[in-house]
Amino acid sequence: MQKTLAIIKPDGVARGLIGEVIKRIEESGLEISAMKMISMTKVQAQGFYAVHRDKPFFDSLTDFMSSGPAVVMVLKGENAIGKWREMMGATNYKEAADGTIRCDFATDIEKNVVHGSDAPETAAFEIGYFFNAFEQVA
Ligand code: CMP
Repeated sequence: MQKTLAIIKPDGVARGLIGEVIKRIEESGLEISAMKMISMTKVQAQGFYAVHRDKPFFDSLTDFMSSGPAVVMVLKGENAIGKWREMMGATNYKEAADGTIRCDFATDIEKNVVHGSDAPETAAFEIGYFFNAFEQVA
């Protein structure tokens, strides 16, 4: 069993895609072990994406991620990290495989609807950034 952090980003929430994304998660067999709606401040977004602090898109990305509500979730299951990344599709929606969330809904390399952890160490940091142990059902 593995856990990963999933986010429905502010563009996904604003466009009414919460239900669609959650439907896909439920159909995938991944279990939602925590979920909440948040509205990140710029500083919280900067902390979350600290690994990207030297990237040219860091300022724009953290503006975007603090621009409105987002849904954060912990997904659990076998190979949860890889499975969720496969469901999301490539970061650049133009390269995302058919049927993936980003291929179907993303409009921009930055406004790409969803986020997922990329490795077990990242997942541990990202889950701990938003949830404590009591907020996860299992
Ligand atoms: P995410 O999977 O959340 O990880 C980092 C985020 O930075 C990524 O999705 C995009 O939202 C954004 N991002 C990655 N590459 C670029 C880029 N070249 N230009 C703008 N934003 C990017």
